[in-house]
Amino acid sequence: MTNEKHRVFVTRRLPQVILDRLGAHFEVDLWDSDLPPSADNLREHAPNADGMFCLLTDRIDATLLDMAPSLRVISNMAVGTDNIDLAAATVRGIPVGNTPGVLTETTADFAFALLMASARRIVDGDKFVRAGHWKTWGPNVLLGRDLFGATLGIVGFGAIGQALARRAQGFSMRVLYTRRSAVPPPSGVDATAVSLDDLLQESDFVSLHVPLTDETRHMIGSREIALMKETAILVNTARGGVIEQGTLVAALRQGRPAMAALDVTSVEPIDSQDELLALPNVIITPHIASASVATRLRMANMAIDNLLAGLSGALLPNCANLEVYQEKK
Ligand code: GLV
Repeated sequence: MTNEKHRVFVTRRLPQVILDRLGAHFEVDLWDSDLPPSADNLREHAPNADGMFCLLTDRIDATLLDMAPSLRVISNMAVGTDNIDLAAATVRGIPVGNTPGVLTETTADFAFALLMASARRIVDGDKFVRAGHWKTWGPNVLLGRDLFGATLGIVGFGAIGQALARRAQGFSMRVLYTRRSAVPPPSGVDATAVSLDDLLQESDFVSLHVPLTDETRHMIGSREIALMKETAILVNTARGGVIEQGTLVAALRQGRPAMAALDVTSVEPIDSQDELLALPNVIITPHIASASVATRLRMANMAIDNLLAGLSGALLPNCANLEVYQEKK
């Protein structure tokens, strides 16, 4: 390492072990808060940064990049990069790092947890007991739906979608999936590729696992929701923007689909007065699908590895805009 440390803007308070590792390599400008910097705050700090360690809550756009003449690498502590204008970074020659792989199993665990929680009414049950309604064992109390033997439709069959399929197999579910390319399922995964329409029509549970892009924004709208079974449960651990949320609210109000379990919403955090929160057939969690202690540490370390590579001029171990290296040639 050279004597002169690179300046890295870190946009959130992080675990001490991560800050220590960052401090060992870089001159750290830390946004020392549990809440994100505003757009103005980002603009105040970007001009001095050689590298940026950012989160999915930070909007990194062309205007910001124009204010950061020394920026050589952006490292997002997330697998998704929809908060970053990748094209704008690419034309400026800035590689963008992300954290795929390390959060796959943790996120699939959580998607499955949402499936189970909604099907078996775990949140309803907890509220029921706390409200003092538990008077006896009752044959009609809080009846849910079985996962075993049911059909699970997985929209987007990348690493997380496949990890969910493996879990579903353990519950004897029939698995359908859609993906952009006509790639067969990996060996050991018993799943059938179908069209989105067929998947929506046939599935008892639909779980979304696509990145948010121009193609996938609002891919679940009124037409798609109308195709779903009346009894279906929709799970979203991907990005809120994949669903037309207003349409989903109206549909849930009619009880079709029967339920939704959402770890992501179109605006995050969701407004406490949002109509979605008034619906009894919705479970909402605050974008925590990758939130296990071990996985978040792995993500942060991977983000540091990307920074180290970017600032030493090496190829990022995980780069979301590989075409930047073509531009640089
Ligand atoms: C979380 O949503 C991520 O993209 O890592």
